[in-house]
Amino acid sequence: MSQYHIKNLEEYFQVYRKSVQQPETFWHEVAEEQFVWRKPWDEVLSWDFEKPELRWFEGAELNITENCIDRHLTAQGDSTAIIFEPNDPDEEPQHISYKELHKRVCKFANVLKAQGIKKGDRVCIYLPMIPELAVAVLACARIGAIHSVVFAGFSSTALATRINDSDCKLVITSDGSFRGKKTIDLKGIVDEALKSCEGVESVLVAKRINSEITLKEGRDHWLQPLLDDASDECAAEIMKAEDPLFILYTSGSTGNPKGMVHSTAGYMVYTAYTFKNVFQYNRGDVYWCTADIGWITGHSYIVYGPLANGATTVMFEGVPTYPDWGRFWQIVGKHKVNQFYTAPTAIRALAKESLDLVTKHDLSSLKVLGTVGEPINEEAWHWYDENIGKGNSPIVDTWWQTETGGIMISPIPFATPTIPTFATLPLPGIQPCLMDEEGKEIKGNPASGRLCIKFPWPAMARTIWGDHQRYKDTYFSTFKNHYFTGDGALRDQTGYYRITGRVDDVIIVSGHNLGTAPIEDAINEHPAVAESAVVGYPHDIKGNALFGFVILKESGEERKQENLKKEINQLITERIGPIAKLERIQFTRGLPKTRSGKIMRRILRKIAEGHTKDIGDTSTLLNPEVVDEIISDKK
Ligand code: PRX
Repeated sequence: MSQYHIKNLEEYFQVYRKSVQQPETFWHEVAEEQFVWRKPWDEVLSWDFEKPELRWFEGAELNITENCIDRHLTAQGDSTAIIFEPNDPDEEPQHISYKELHKRVCKFANVLKAQGIKKGDRVCIYLPMIPELAVAVLACARIGAIHSVVFAGFSSTALATRINDSDCKLVITSDGSFRGKKTIDLKGIVDEALKSCEGVESVLVAKRINSEITLKEGRDHWLQPLLDDASDECAAEIMKAEDPLFILYTSGSTGNPKGMVHSTAGYMVYTAYTFKNVFQYNRGDVYWCTADIGWITGHSYIVYGPLANGATTVMFEGVPTYPDWGRFWQIVGKHKVNQFYTAPTAIRALAKESLDLVTKHDLSSLKVLGTVGEPINEEAWHWYDENIGKGNSPIVDTWWQTETGGIMISPIPFATPTIPTFATLPLPGIQPCLMDEEGKEIKGNPASGRLCIKFPWPAMARTIWGDHQRYKDTYFSTFKNHYFTGDGALRDQTGYYRITGRVDDVIIVSGHNLGTAPIEDAINEHPAVAESAVVGYPHDIKGNALFGFVILKESGEERKQENLKKEINQLITERIGPIAKLERIQFTRGLPKTRSGKIMRRILRKIAEGHTKDIGDTSTLLNPEVVDEIISDKK
């Protein structure tokens, strides 16, 4: 029997055709194949992009943890579900079997119940990449609580905004986290955040770094003693197909972060199906995705997708640079990783280091390589292919979003011929198209335009928590009857897609999705700042870096300005997190604005990119003279 699920290009086209011509039959068959349903569905799909309303597997009942854990207990209870690789290479890794995972999840679920958490309650998880994070996520799902994982690099203000937006009752955190040589005081950040979160009734604290922390009487509890006392059996809550599974925040072009709400059944079916096919995963393989569970990639392709397939998934606590730049490759060799999934920014950074750090490790176990989160440039693609894949591990450049829940456009390894920088073809069930500025679909090849999706897929986010209108406005209003991705793309002669980047005010920095508005809000909080505008510009490691144009209330001398730059970045770190720090700041006396007062970011982008001429039409500007001034002041 072939080890591949979709075996060749011909089979891909066959499967794809069926998925488009008979989507309901197609997804019915996928959903029937490998999952445990407490009750089957009455209808595969009902949808309306106008409202918008999407329902997959209506009538079905299930619990996703029975699919990710219990289902595997008989046949492979002793096989490894999670390999935990600690930050410190000298600390022993943990191999958590499916049986062990079952016990740990049940215990944790019972602890949550004892804290009064019920189906539908929101639980915020603010943890480093330690096993408790995956266990906490699954424990919420076990009892039907909606988890909201907040990446543990976000600041206390960002954490508080997210906790309040979805009214979380309970927060799970740790005493701290290890990042390379550093430790981070996570509990301190939580304490600060909770000063403005009245709805939080309890905090569970995992011990990781053994630091001195204070527990607030009546609110905070060490997690371990509660787990020790809890039963290791916990019946799974029976969920309806469309019950929310989790909320995950992502940046928008304006306003507060959007709490994307994902469903139970559709999300499960889609992440499991795409995991299996995009990585050609077979039982016994060791799969490693280097993302953090704080992002969608970690939700779908460290936890749910792999576990729904009975896979062995690696969780790495540390950073690629510690103890040296060879750490990723050392881990690949140590755990004999077969599928390796990372971000282009990591590849670009690693490619700058000595090749000795690669060649001294045994990478012969690798079969499939993946990238996600941003466009991969050709040079990085070739470095990855030649030095890591040794020319015989296909690279899957996977395009998708927090909102899509799972991978949408990607090669199928060993079936789809790859071309550097192309995410290639849509996965079965996905119907992408390109739209022109007038909202008409561009047919024929080659073509370039705004990337939309015409037909629903099971894992699409169902709404924005608390703001369905914003969901409609953001994704379904730009192009009638289409889901709009916010990305631009081109399609070549053969129908391959290449994602060219965002066409809105979202900037992808090191694979992190950042909205300009919250960063500008943070800058504007500085008492010396009158106004600001943030744009992205190309950066050879981060993909994009942030450039801030800042108008001061009073322009100071140079020395004072240097201090101001530090203070501004400090503010951004406090309000959002270090990932949103500005790479460059230019103080200016004005910002190019239209007559209606809107900042012309297009022009600022050109200037940030280094253009001094041909910066586009400035005739509609209220103050065209500031453009020359900004250009001549730029160092
Ligand atoms: O611009 C696209 C870019 O990342 C955006 C989604 O970011 P986020 O919701 O944080 O999810 C990232 C992980 C799935 C997209 O709108 N993006 C993601 N993957 C690719 C990509 N751009 C180019 N190529 C990709 N493979």
